[in-house]
Amino acid sequence: MAGKIKSLFVCSQCGHESAKWYGKCPSCGEWNTFTEELRETVKPGIASVQQRKKPSSVPVPITQITTEDEQRYYTGFKELDRVLGGGIVKGSLVLLGGDPGIGKSTILLQICSHLGKLLKILYISGEESKRQIKLRAERLGVNSDNLLVMTETDVEVIADHIQTENPDLVMVDSIQTMNYRELSSSPGSVTQVRECTNILMRTSKMLDIPCIVVGHVNKDGAIAGPKVLEHIVDAVLYFEGDKQMSYRILRAVKNRYGSTNEIGVFRMGDDGLSEVENPSLMLLSGRPKNVSGTCVACTMEGSRPILAEIQGLVTNSGYGNARRMSTGFDYNRMSMLLAVLEKRCGYFFSSLDAYINVIGGLRLDEPATDLAVALALVSSLKDIVVSEDVIAFGEVGLTGEIRSVNHAALRVTEAARLGFRRCIMPYHNIKGLKLPADCKPEIIGVRNIRDAVSALGG
Ligand code: TYD
Ligand code: MG
Repeated sequence: MAGKIKSLFVCSQCGHESAKWYGKCPSCGEWNTFTEELRETVKPGIASVQQRKKPSSVPVPITQITTEDEQRYYTGFKELDRVLGGGIVKGSLVLLGGDPGIGKSTILLQICSHLGKLLKILYISGEESKRQIKLRAERLGVNSDNLLVMTETDVEVIADHIQTENPDLVMVDSIQTMNYRELSSSPGSVTQVRECTNILMRTSKMLDIPCIVVGHVNKDGAIAGPKVLEHIVDAVLYFEGDKQMSYRILRAVKNRYGSTNEIGVFRMGDDGLSEVENPSLMLLSGRPKNVSGTCVACTMEGSRPILAEIQGLVTNSGYGNARRMSTGFDYNRMSMLLAVLEKRCGYFFSSLDAYINVIGGLRLDEPATDLAVALALVSSLKDIVVSEDVIAFGEVGLTGEIRSVNHAALRVTEAARLGFRRCIMPYHNIKGLKLPADCKPEIIGVRNIRDAVSALGG
């Protein structure tokens, strides 16, 4: 017998449930995230979904558990394999998030093109028709009898097909279109997304089949119900980048089988995505010469140093309130750097608009990029050209001191490899700096922000 239908309000950010509507979620503090869902109350005694399909397991002593390496499938993209921590782990559930049109479906089909030679793949789409998939596959040159395509949105039907077909890899595009019939809420709602992911997770763990699930990002930049989903899945990868530009950055936000610091860089072309093995070169191409307001920084993305151009623009403010804008760099950190430059170096920005832009859609989170941002701002303010063979890295403290950073040698080596001949870096890093014999750029150790500015010749 069906239970009673009751109305419930669910936060689309964290999944918090409540009988009444809130403007601000009491759990995660987000505003305007509560949506109404109708739910059937399950009578006691009727097994819930979790209980029904629970695989039986027995406790074992830890000494009896073998630590042999988990089996991984290589995707054919070295960049993707690195972000995954060395390929797709058997039995894992990977969530691939990103804006619509960024290339999620494309990369899935390209993985099929490589892995389809060896493995049986089940590709389930709730978004596109079989014809559309075939057209795209033809364009990408994907053609294999091992690739099974299914257009379906009922998650239980999908789970059944996974069991009967028993493929080596499953792809679901996208989780927002999936539907679990027992729930009355519409596809894409937090409860549906969570329950469908749960069902796919159980199926994939039970049969030891890896599964890649696509998740769309909502307008605030989060996968619908991101916190609930991130808890469930083994790895969360985000595709970032400007749709207008050709390159895309793949970033791991969570990974149970590898580091979350790694990024993969791709370029979208007429024949799909291709890897960019030397991202620094790509990010620095087309750099303006002999102009003020630009400085190259070196940031570490996981184990890899990446050079990025930072542009700063300081102009007279047309309004009473000076404007500050920052793209690709933390806004508050930029304000802090402006304050340090004002207090410690005597540069006054209070009546000036200041803008920072990191070229290539890259996001710099590392404090080591502080120095290059500060120098780009000073360079624009004083119209001093930062020579094109200079890179700068170092954390800027509130007293204007330049603090040491990790991986200094890797950063200098990468800069030298790309033809930079002078490195402005923290003085305290010089002592332990061990560079390869053929790497001999000029090292300028600076103790504070004033030294760094004078190293520019200003
Ligand atoms: P798609 O993979 O459909 O995005 P998502 O699944 O993340 O929504 O990517 C579609 C975009 O990529 C679309 O704007 C066209 C572009 N594209 C190319 O530029 N070249 C190609 O070879 C393909 C297949 C797509
Ligand atoms: Mg798609």
